[in-house]
Amino acid sequence: MKKIIIFLGVPGSGKGTQAKNLARKYYYSHLSTGDLLRALEKKSKLSAEEKLNLENIRNGQLASDEFIYKLAFSALESLFKKGEGVVLDGAVRNLAQAKEYQKFFESKGKINDVLAIEVAIPDKESFKRLAGRRMCSQCGEILTVNLKNPETVCSKCGGKLEMRADDAPEVVMKRIDVQGNRAIAPILEYYRKLGILHTVDGTKSIADVFKLIEKKLL
Ligand code: AP5
Ligand code: MG
Repeated sequence: MKKIIIFLGVPGSGKGTQAKNLARKYYYSHLSTGDLLRALEKKSKLSAEEKLNLENIRNGQLASDEFIYKLAFSALESLFKKGEGVVLDGAVRNLAQAKEYQKFFESKGKINDVLAIEVAIPDKESFKRLAGRRMCSQCGEILTVNLKNPETVCSKCGGKLEMRADDAPEVVMKRIDVQGNRAIAPILEYYRKLGILHTVDGTKSIADVFKLIEKKLL
């Protein structure tokens, strides 16, 4: 199995769910730039650059490319030093980033270790899923709650379930505009031309999507 797996997909496609499950099963590290960015919110003092990027994210916009490179490349450096395989979850969001990551992997002698997986769903499915998504504040598990009577604690560890600020319906609309299927098409095309893209049908059950991904990887 390749050592660097890049997960791509529209908001709510299941990148996080699948990336975490894959990392858990194969002892890979999971690196989500969304999680890295949200973790900054817990810092007591934020720089002007951090504040601006966090505000953009809350509004459904992307963080700046340069900011992402700083966050992601230093995290990747540490993981490579440990010799671990890594699953990148939502870390590539536009064509410029896709190219810059490839340059980075090349500079580390890892260009032949890269594989990209698109978890494909229609934009309208994205909207439906994010309304019911919750994340456990304790173990990080991603769950879907019953919208009529939403559960408040994690079924895995009993931790408190939280809704992401950017899952408010008006922000989701913006995110789909900025990161929906039309927006991510050039990234997919780029990886397709490199011959390293696989697409799986993300509308199937979580377990079935996982099986489809494993078939492409092994
Ligand atoms: P990020 O946290 O990555 O958000 P996202 O891309 O919008 O994706 P999501 O996390 O919302 O969805 P997901 O695909 O992980 O789906 P999940 O598995 O949770 O990034 C947040 C923000 O940070 C971005 O909007 C951007 O602003 C910024 N950012 C991050 N990286 C950046 C970068 N490189 N450059 C610039 N900006 C960046 O599943 C969703 C729901 O569906 C869950 O409830 C889940 O249980 C359910 N579900 C999953 N799979 C299935 C299934 N097969 N069937 C039914 N339900 C399912
Ligand atoms: Mg996610």
